Amino acid sequence: MSEEKVILIATHNKGKVAEFEQLFKGFGYRVESLIDYPDLPDVIENGSTFEENARLKAEEIAKLTKRLVISDDSGLCVDSLAGQPGVLSARYAGEHGNDALNNAKLLAELGDIPNLSRRAHFHCSMVAAREGYESLATQGQVFGQIASCPRGEAGFGYDVLFIPDGYDITFAEMPAEDKNALSHRAKAIMSLMEKLPTWEGFLGE
Ligand code: IMP
Repeated sequence: MSEEKVILIATHNKGKVAEFEQLFKGFGYRVESLIDYPDLPDVIENGSTFEENARLKAEEIAKLTKRLVISDDSGLCVDSLAGQPGVLSARYAGEHGNDALNNAKLLAELGDIPNLSRRAHFHCSMVAAREGYESLATQGQVFGQIASCPRGEAGFGYDVLFIPDGYDITFAEMPAEDKNALSHRAKAIMSLMEKLPTWEGFLGE
C-alpha cells in the first residue's frame, strides 16, 4: 500500500490553509499546517529578503518533518522609504502584528509627501522545499500608492492604506474576492501552481 501524500503549509493561519486545500484538491495531496505540529520549534525569520525568510522556514520545517513544505513571506515596500517597511512589515512600529501602530508609523514617515511620490508595492515570496531537493521559489507583486489616511474595514495589515494601480479605493474598501484576485499572494501562488507539477521535489516520492 502506498503512503498517503501530504503537503505541509508552514502557517498557523486557517485562511491560508483553506486556500491551499482548495488548490491541492486535484493533486491527491492531503494538506496539513503548523497547527498539526504543535511541538515544532519556531523558525527565526532573520533573513534580509522575503525569499530568504520563506526559504529558511520551508527548508527547516522540511528537514524536521520530512514533508513537502510550502512557506511564504510577504510585506509592503515603499519607494520613497527605500523599500521599508519590507521584511519588517509585521513589526514596523516595534510590536509584532500591531496593524494600527504600523499604519500610523507609515503615515508619519511619509508626512505630507504628495501622491505621486507615495509609490509602493506588496511583495510575496513563496518557497516549496523537500529534504534532498533544490527548493522551488516564486514571487508575486502588486503595485500602487499609499493613501493619505486609512480607508475601509476589510482585510488586514496595510490594506487600509494601499490603493492598487487602476483603482481609487484601498484594498480594505474592496470585497475580499477582488483583492484576492490581484494580490501579491495570489500571483505568487499562481506561479507556484504552474511550476510545481514539474518540480523534482513534487515528483520524487
Ligand atoms: P506575512 O508574511 O503574510 O505574515 O505578512 C507580514 C506582514 O506584511 C503582515 O503582518 C502585514 O503587515 C504585511 N502584509 C502582508 N501581506 C499583506 C496584505 O495582503 N495586506 C496588508 N498587509 C500585508
